[in-house]
Amino acid sequence: MTVEEAKVRIETLRTQLAEHSRRYYVDNAPVISDYDFDQLMHELESLEASFPQFADADSPTLRVGSDLSDSPRHEFRQVAHRYPMLSLGNTYSIEEIEAFASRADKTLEGAEFSYSCELKFDGTAICLEYRKGKLFRALTRGDGTMGDDVTANVLKIKNVPAVLHGDYPEEFEIRGEILMPFEAFDRLNAERELKEEAPFANPRNAASGSIKLLDPKEVAHRGLMATLYHIPDGILDYKTHSEALDAAKSWGLPVSDERRICRNIEEIENYISYWDTARKTLPFATDGIVIKINERDCQTTLGYTAKSPRWAVAYKFKAEQALTELKSIDYQVGRTGAVTPVANLTPVLLSGTMVKRATLNNADQMAQMDIRVGDWVYVEKGGEIIPKITGIELSKRPADSEPTVFPAACPVCGTPLVREEDEAKWFCPNSDGCAPQIQGRIIHFLSRKAMNILAGEATVEQLHSLGFVKSPADLYDLDKLRLVSLEGWKDRAAQRFLDSLAESRAVSFERVLFALGIRFVGETTAKTLARHFGDIDAIAVADMEALQAVPDIGTVIAKSVYDFFRNEEHLAEIERLKAHGLQFSLKSSAVEKTDVLAGMTIVISGNFSISRDAMKELIENNGGKNSGSVSGKTSFLLAGEKPGPEKIKKAESLGVKIISEKEFMGMLPDAPQIVEQEELTLF
Ligand code: IVH
Repeated sequence: MTVEEAKVRIETLRTQLAEHSRRYYVDNAPVISDYDFDQLMHELESLEASFPQFADADSPTLRVGSDLSDSPRHEFRQVAHRYPMLSLGNTYSIEEIEAFASRADKTLEGAEFSYSCELKFDGTAICLEYRKGKLFRALTRGDGTMGDDVTANVLKIKNVPAVLHGDYPEEFEIRGEILMPFEAFDRLNAERELKEEAPFANPRNAASGSIKLLDPKEVAHRGLMATLYHIPDGILDYKTHSEALDAAKSWGLPVSDERRICRNIEEIENYISYWDTARKTLPFATDGIVIKINERDCQTTLGYTAKSPRWAVAYKFKAEQALTELKSIDYQVGRTGAVTPVANLTPVLLSGTMVKRATLNNADQMAQMDIRVGDWVYVEKGGEIIPKITGIELSKRPADSEPTVFPAACPVCGTPLVREEDEAKWFCPNSDGCAPQIQGRIIHFLSRKAMNILAGEATVEQLHSLGFVKSPADLYDLDKLRLVSLEGWKDRAAQRFLDSLAESRAVSFERVLFALGIRFVGETTAKTLARHFGDIDAIAVADMEALQAVPDIGTVIAKSVYDFFRNEEHLAEIERLKAHGLQFSLKSSAVEKTDVLAGMTIVISGNFSISRDAMKELIENNGGKNSGSVSGKTSFLLAGEKPGPEKIKKAESLGVKIISEKEFMGMLPDAPQIVEQEELTLF
């Protein structure tokens, strides 16, 4: 690999990993399996090791994935962790466990030590703080440094004691995992399906979605449980990790009984191979084994990397596989026109659930596998809800099987399919006449993260097939009389639907832009574009150069946005939506005005996460006054990234306080509330 190739690959991997990390930790909706994610991460790690010139402190190899939501209105108070919440180094091979053990042996220079082997629970990390025997605070991992305060929710988890008993220390922290047992997970997804809500892909996503619910009462119904596995506090007087956990158990805390002390690699291997099978009988998900050096003084000697402890490692289990027959292949058309092949399988049991369908990704992969109807195939569950086919058992191939031919025309509307250069997928170009594309766009428009209108797929299908709704704007033309005349619509349902349409008029411009379904414009990009341009008209007239000048917007996204606004029908649709009163500008979006900055004169300097104009507006909306230069009257200097050195000097000489964007946002009721803990000790 040339240096140039390595540079490109490293950049690509960093972008991909950041995106997958967001989908995993923030959206709770991963699109690749943990295994594939780990492979990408390992590839990046080894490239960075071979090409140290491309080192970057922001690389995902050095950072812990963040579950902090980037919503402008923070639902939870953010609190700094007393000790950073780290991740674990992981591997899929026993050889690397051996390498871990001999590295530790070498560093510890012949000191006697043992290993605590434990299950690796597949849920969402939590940090509990007890003071005087009472649960004082529960924080999510967040970005490892700051976490969301979810105490009210954690108090609703049955096996988390609000009050301890026995001989507990005055103050301590204990960390662990929140899990959703399979039974509760199946029940929750069945309920969601009834309500036409998207099911959770796996119990891990369900657990982390549930712990961030806004209503603690609802959390109580989710059937969550906790298991605790780490006490970071060095002041607790226990020589070993296992003794500390035994003590925690005696205070009433939920600590797993499946822990074992192992003395050597052989015992570790036995533990691993036992649980590789036995875990299938557990009522909750595990994805591996964690091996920790048990002696706390040895842990201290080994220390930490930026991302994980050197005294622990995770051995991850390979995803379970099942063998079953491929009965037929469907070709599904999505809202973008992409045609996805989906395999219909003879139902088979896999990791606790029945699998009937699996994704085949695209035509190239199908051709490469030479997959045929009648084949016996291996299926594996990744992060996504639909499992994937990972291989074919050729010894079972029927003699008369025929190669699969990918359709040349759209299976729904018959239009010949097209494929762009560099694209893996075939597309139906008939975007305005192909039913699943039209319905898909409307469903996307209505979805929770877009306009959040109460209607599901069945409703959209009904309204579209009857010819009432061909585009999102048509929704706003519907009236009660028409709705109640339709099959299955009662007065109350119609009213609820109309009310929620009316409420959607207040949805912010950023989300309206996302709702339009412009290709490659996801939630984050929509936010970036909205904040940069301020309103839809500015985006619509922006040329390629102006679009590409926006941070994080590359050629592909810029071209897609540019093309979208060069289409007359799209412009006409936007005009109709405007006439219906939707928000097409940041300024018009309802902003909450407060007077928390009343009487303050604030000078800003440097770059912020929002534009400087937006920052000025924020100051004014909260009652403050923005001024261009620092003087004795300045209340404080709000310094972003790369602030002007002159302004800093002046502020310092006049004794004017300098505050960061984070601190400033913390002053506003409508912004992330950031609370630093009394003392911040790092290990
Ligand atoms: S110990 C300083 N023990 O797996 C690191 N973690 O993929 C302390 N996890 O971040 C973590 N089971 O959220 C530890 N028995 C166990 C675990 C465990 C699950 C999670 C934890 C960690 C992640 C790494």
